Amino acid sequence: MLREYMSDDTQAIKDRIDIAEFIGEYVQLKPAGVNMKGLCPFHNEKSPSFMVNRDRQTFKCFGCSKGGDIFTFIQEIEGMEFIEALKLLANRAGVEIKQQTAQVNSNQKNRIKDINLHAARFFYNFLTQMDAAKEARDYLTTRGITQDMIDAWQIGFIPDQWELLTQYLLKKGHGVEDLVAAGITIKRDNANAQTGKGFYDRFRGRIMFPIRDVHGNVAGFTGRVLKETEHSGGKYVNTPQTIVYDKSRIVFGLDKARQEIRTTGNIVMVEGQMDVIAAHQAGMKNVVATSGTALTQEQIKLLMRYAKNMSMAFDADDAGEKAAKRGIALAMETGMHVKVIQIPEGKGKDPDECIKQNKEVWFTAVEHAQDIMEWYIERALINKDLKNPHDKQQIADEILPEIIRLPYAVEREHWLQMLAQQLSIDTKVLHEDIDRIKATTTQKTGQTMLQEEPQKSAQKQDKLEVLIEKWIGLGLRFPDIFQHHVDMLSHILPQTTYGPLYEQIKNSYTQSSRINLETLRQDAAQAHNPENIVDVLLMKSEWEFSDIKEDTVEAQLIEFSGHILIHWVKQRRQQLEQEIRKAEQHGDTERLNELLQQFQQLQS
Ligand code: GTP
Ligand code: MN
Repeated sequence: MLREYMSDDTQAIKDRIDIAEFIGEYVQLKPAGVNMKGLCPFHNEKSPSFMVNRDRQTFKCFGCSKGGDIFTFIQEIEGMEFIEALKLLANRAGVEIKQQTAQVNSNQKNRIKDINLHAARFFYNFLTQMDAAKEARDYLTTRGITQDMIDAWQIGFIPDQWELLTQYLLKKGHGVEDLVAAGITIKRDNANAQTGKGFYDRFRGRIMFPIRDVHGNVAGFTGRVLKETEHSGGKYVNTPQTIVYDKSRIVFGLDKARQEIRTTGNIVMVEGQMDVIAAHQAGMKNVVATSGTALTQEQIKLLMRYAKNMSMAFDADDAGEKAAKRGIALAMETGMHVKVIQIPEGKGKDPDECIKQNKEVWFTAVEHAQDIMEWYIERALINKDLKNPHDKQQIADEILPEIIRLPYAVEREHWLQMLAQQLSIDTKVLHEDIDRIKATTTQKTGQTMLQEEPQKSAQKQDKLEVLIEKWIGLGLRFPDIFQHHVDMLSHILPQTTYGPLYEQIKNSYTQSSRINLETLRQDAAQAHNPENIVDVLLMKSEWEFSDIKEDTVEAQLIEFSGHILIHWVKQRRQQLEQEIRKAEQHGDTERLNELLQQFQQLQS
């Protein structure tokens, strides 16, 4: 409704933004006929089924069937609501939105963003202007944070009181339920929304850092305790998950680092926000952090829009390493090149300390970051006796699962050779072990495994099936022409996955001598998977042959059926050959004769 209401604005925006160029910032697109084609950003795939059509200003993925216009795209990929997408795109297109902002503010997501904005300003003003913040200012000075950084990152402070911010924001006119939903305010069990009693601040006595999304909007906060006491809680307190702050999708500092990440082609990933700020202050601006948690798939995808190389610095303690390893595994499986930054012994426990001691040491450590596989191999060799077969096996068992993760065959082979050399064995042996490991364990992290399922089946779709889809799709678009050709493949199609649909199409011709798409849709919905197969085939055909002329349809249909026939014969022959081999092995002469006869028939 809202969309229709604003259709003037949306059209003006669409007219000014080239959808292919816009989507091209997220997805690498290549021309494919009248369309542009690329790997779908909404599901994992290895061959492109994501299309963008400039003339129609739309996109469509035939793998996961997501589609729409530029607004749908940004809503989907950024997890935004329409109104946010509108604002963002209007801004970019230089279109002024005519509609009243009252409507915009009616939705809670926008109200929470507003609250965050006010809170960030409050923290910052408090730190920079209030006497009560002197200790906090001194603390930041001792940590070497300059005023420029305080301004640029909008660092702030809130003293140790119970309701300071909550009361301030209530007076500003924000609703207490919104404050709770924003994660700013905590509600006690006996709270009373009428009187405002029983609500208190989540952040108390802390140095405050706004956490921004990639567009620079304040999504939440992280607060570092100024004075650690028995009651001060964790060293850091973060905004909980809210409708605005989804921590699995946000990377701290990315809004400021993304430009530099693009130009350098490299992401420097550190653990804490203090590390990020220290690095930026030292002049290294492609640095971001996940704020102490393991990298998620969403964060990796987000980062991969900007660069495919990532150098990571993580705490050498067990916990830090474990969390890092999980993130590294995901990043590797997604196709990122991962390197490890090692701060030399005694040069600081984290990047922040290292930079403070001597920033050159940090720059050098980043420059000499080691390839993750090299790092794994080196570590696996520590304290091992390369003459001891047991030790050698242990090394292989530790490294092979990491090598398997790499999605690139050439790279995999490279590391296998490296490992084989170290162990003085043949790579063939390692391949044997890989088979064993694959058979006994599920090496992939659970998350990627789940996501890969549909991709695998999409990949398996063979050429024959694709041809049949094209044939039927085109036929459904031109049913009057199709009816003269539909019988042409009646000896093949019933034996394929499209058999049931094919029968239904034939039936509708015999029953009503015309094809009725509506009935076909209904029939198909009951018998097929996906249930909207008719529309999927129609759409695919419209994408691929959007400008086909009616007088060439017949020739095209005939050409497809020729190809289908050839591929079907080829496939069937392979099947028969296999079965013949099996029958021979089992000495089953009767079956063998039967198969040979079928084979003969196929040749003729
Ligand atoms: P500083 O002491 O301020 O330099 O912090 P740090 O970044 O060196 O802290 P540390 O190495 O202990 O932790 C790394 C990151 O983990 C921090 O930057 C935080 O993002 C996160 N973290 C640390 N302590 C806590 C905590 O108590 N709670 C939560 N939620 N996160 C924490
Ligand atoms: Mn630190």
